Amino acid sequence: MNSIKKEIADCLSRHLPIENGPIEAMLKAPPEPGMGDYALPCFPFAKDMKKSPAAIATALSREISPPKDVKTVEPAGPYVNFFLDRAALYREILSNICQEGFVRSRSKSGKGKTVIIDYSSPNIAKHLGVHHLRSAIIGRSLYRIFEACGYRCIGINHLGDWGTSFGKLIAAFERYGDISAQDASVSDMQELYVRFSREAEEKPELADLARNAFKRLENGDPHATVLWKQFKKISVAEFERIYAMLGIEFDAYMPESFYLTMAGDLLERLRTKGIATDSEDAIIARLDTDDLPPLMLQKKDGTTLYSTRDLCAAEYRWTNYRFEHCLYVVGGEQKLHFQQLRAVLSRMGYDWAGRIEHIDFGLLKFPDPKTGKANVGSTRTGEVVLLEDVLKNGIEKAKEKIKENAGKLPPQTDLEELADMIGTGAVMFSDLAVRRTKDVVFDWDRMLDFQGDTGPYVQYAHARLCSILRKSGAGVTEQADCSLLRLPEEWKLVRTLEDFSLRIDQAADKREPSIIANYLLELCKLFSSYYSLGMKEPEKRVLCDDEETRNARLFLVDAVRNVIADGLRLLGMKAPERM
Ligand code: ARG
Repeated sequence: MNSIKKEIADCLSRHLPIENGPIEAMLKAPPEPGMGDYALPCFPFAKDMKKSPAAIATALSREISPPKDVKTVEPAGPYVNFFLDRAALYREILSNICQEGFVRSRSKSGKGKTVIIDYSSPNIAKHLGVHHLRSAIIGRSLYRIFEACGYRCIGINHLGDWGTSFGKLIAAFERYGDISAQDASVSDMQELYVRFSREAEEKPELADLARNAFKRLENGDPHATVLWKQFKKISVAEFERIYAMLGIEFDAYMPESFYLTMAGDLLERLRTKGIATDSEDAIIARLDTDDLPPLMLQKKDGTTLYSTRDLCAAEYRWTNYRFEHCLYVVGGEQKLHFQQLRAVLSRMGYDWAGRIEHIDFGLLKFPDPKTGKANVGSTRTGEVVLLEDVLKNGIEKAKEKIKENAGKLPPQTDLEELADMIGTGAVMFSDLAVRRTKDVVFDWDRMLDFQGDTGPYVQYAHARLCSILRKSGAGVTEQADCSLLRLPEEWKLVRTLEDFSLRIDQAADKREPSIIANYLLELCKLFSSYYSLGMKEPEKRVLCDDEETRNARLFLVDAVRNVIADGLRLLGMKAPERM
C-alpha cells in the first residue's frame, strides 16, 4: 500500500537472503524523527550471513542504491536508518488515508476467502442478558475487521430454538391457558416457564406433559408447532429491537431447528465409521484418545442435542461456504463443547476441522454498590441484568451528560440521537477495549467519562476534529504542501496514522477488536497533545496565520478524523460530528 516503503524493501531484498514481503514488515518507523523515517534491524540476518548485525548494517548502507525518495541511508549500530523526503512520505500516507473507501481497499489478504462468524446466537423465549452483549459486540466488530481485510464475511445468528425446554413451555401455555401465545411477551414466556418448573417440583407427572409436548413438536403436531413458532416470532422481534439499538446485523438467521432433518443422516454416518456408539440406548462419541469426555449425540428418548445440531451446522457451513475460518463467538464456559466438536469433525476425516475456532471471552461483571465487589451478570438479588435495561440506562446517563454541554450545541441538534450514539458507544467501547478473554467490569461513571479511556472520549475527539475542519472555513486540499509539517509531533502523528492498516491486520489475525480500540485511544491522545501545543505557541496552532502551513495541518487533521471515524466503524460505533 505504501509504495515508498515497498521500493525500499525491493532494493534491500537484492542484498539480503530474504524476500521483500517480510522485509517490508520489518521496516518500522524509528522512535524519534531524528533517527530517520524507516529503520531496518539487522539481527535476523546475522546467522545466515555469518556477520555481526552492525557489520551488515554498515555494508548495506554503503552498497544499496536506494529509490528516489530516500535522501540518505545511515548505519546506526545494528540498524540501517533511511531518511526520506518527508513531504513525499507524508503525502503518500495522508492521501491514502483520505481516499474514499480506504479501509476496504487497503488490504487484499482475505481476497477470495470466506469467514463465517457465529455471534449473539441466543436461546429464544428468554430475554437477552448482558452476557449476550459481549458475543454480539465482539462478533460484529470482528465481522467489520475481517471485511476490512478483504474477506467475504457471513454473520450467522445460530438461534437456540430447539430442545426439551420448549416442550415444557408448550405444556405451560396449554396448562395455564390464561394467556394466549399471540399476546404473550418474552417476560410472559419466562414467567410461565418458571411457574411450570415450580409446579413440576411437586407434581412429577408434569414432566410427562412436557415430554409429551416436545414429542408432539418433533412430530410436527400443528398445535404444538403454532405455539413454538409464536415463541420464536415474539423472541426474535425483541432481539431485533435490541440489535437495532446496537447496530447489530446478520446475514442469516439459521436456527438450530434448521438442522434437524440432517441429524439422522449424520448419526448414521458416524455409526458406520465407528465414531458414534450406542451406550444404554443413547448414542455417544467416545473421545478418550483426545483426552476429552464422551460427547452425547442422541438421548435415550431419541432426541438430538445441541452438539448434534452444531455438528450438522458445521458440515452445512462447509458445504455451502467453503470457509477459511469459522468463528464461534461464545463465552468461555462452552470451551469443552467446541473441543469436542472439533475432535468429532477431525475423526470424520475433515481436514477443515482445524478451521473451527472458538472465540471465547471473559465475563461481564457488575460492581455491587455496597461492597464494591464485582458480581457476574446479575444484581445482588440474583436477577439477571437485562441487556436492554443496560443500554437504556447508558442512553439516559449520556443524556444527562450532554445536557451539561447542550449550550454549546446548535439548537437543531437531535439530542436523542446523540445520546443514543454516546450511550451505546460507551457500553460497546468499554467492552471492546478490554482484551477479549479478560473480564469486563461495568462501571458507568468510568465508561461515560469524556476524559477517560472511553468511547465518548474517542467520539468527542472525532467531533472536535470535525469542528476544527468546520471552523477553518476552507475545504481540505490534497495539494497542501506537506513539507510544512515540520514539528516532531506531526511526524509522530503521521507515523501513527500509517500504522492503522497494520493494526487492522493484527486485529483480524488475533481476532481481537481491542487492538483497534486501544489504537484509537493512542491516536486521540497524540492528537490532543499536538493540538494543545498551539495554546502556548500560536505558530503551532492548526489554524495558524500562515495559510500554506494551515492547509498542510488541515490535511493532517482530516486524515486523523478519517482514521478515527473508520476505527469507530470497525468497532460498530458511531462517529458524531458534534457533541
Ligand atoms: N445458543 C447458545 C447459547 O445461548 C449459543 C450458540 C452459539 N453458537 C453455536 N453454533 N453453538 O449459549
